[in-house]
Amino acid sequence: MFVYPVILSQDKFVHRDSLNYPFEERSMQFGDGVYEVIRIYNGTYYLLDEHVDRLYRSAEAIKINLDLDKDKLIALLHDLMERNNMTEDGKVYLQVTRGSAPRDHVFPLDAAPNMYAYVVKVPRNTELLSNGVATITHRDIRWEYCFIKSLNLLPNVLAKQEAKDHHCYEAILHKDGLVTECSASNVYLVKNGSIYTHPATENILHGCVRMRVEQFTNDLQIPFIEEAFRIEDIGKADELFLTSSTSEVLPIIEVDGQQIADGKPGNITKKLQAAYEKDANILNKSTVNQ
Ligand SMILES: Cc1ncc(COP(=O)(O)O)c(C=O)c1O
Repeated sequence: MFVYPVILSQDKFVHRDSLNYPFEERSMQFGDGVYEVIRIYNGTYYLLDEHVDRLYRSAEAIKINLDLDKDKLIALLHDLMERNNMTEDGKVYLQVTRGSAPRDHVFPLDAAPNMYAYVVKVPRNTELLSNGVATITHRDIRWEYCFIKSLNLLPNVLAKQEAKDHHCYEAILHKDGLVTECSASNVYLVKNGSIYTHPATENILHGCVRMRVEQFTNDLQIPFIEEAFRIEDIGKADELFLTSSTSEVLPIIEVDGQQIADGKPGNITKKLQAAYEKDANILNKSTVNQ
């Protein structure tokens, strides 16, 4: 994976080889921080304001006081792209932690938040977008504050690895029989022309793409029902798809080895893919076969 050389460190720009992180840093010892992954198409951020707003919400939820205003952060992120001469498809990873301090569970009194961001080249996976992916189901063993985009990703990592071990793309998570989301994406079921997905409660991450998809459904007059579906409903689904900044709107064609409907991306999913491409101003439209 190609990482662009200029990194944002606090409010300065440094070469990636000169970024030294202290060993007593709260993200490494406690996962005490929050992050964002923002998609870039042709060197332009997609849903930048939405991601920055969520970063501040996540930071506030874990009582990290970000002493940097949103406009300044947005300007720094644009500067990061310019300094890297980034004009391709990619993503930015942005992390904010409670800071560096001698290891102690309680908040350090005199530590200031640490922030860094870097840009990675990520081409669109047009083959998966056209053909869909296979998934597994997995118990959701995460904590109760999944709306916070926290650095504590161990349950997500374990679930995604389990999917990989089964040659699958994602793990669909369920709690008490109800589907919450996936390890790194939101998930939706289509039945009789309506879309069902878990409501945006504390139990899921409120995806920026999810928010946009809801808007697309309003324009397309497709009912968007925020009601969790059950794990048994999956076998009877007309369509299933997931969304995230890196996966976009991605059809799911198989779950736990069972084909969904005819095993091909469904029409509503394809309409949402087309709406996404239009909204993100993606020039290469070859991935969606309308
Ligand atoms: C657990 C989880 N849910 C949902 C999403 C989708 O969020 P977004 O659409 O903002 O990328 C992500 C993205 O990383 C995620 O990690």
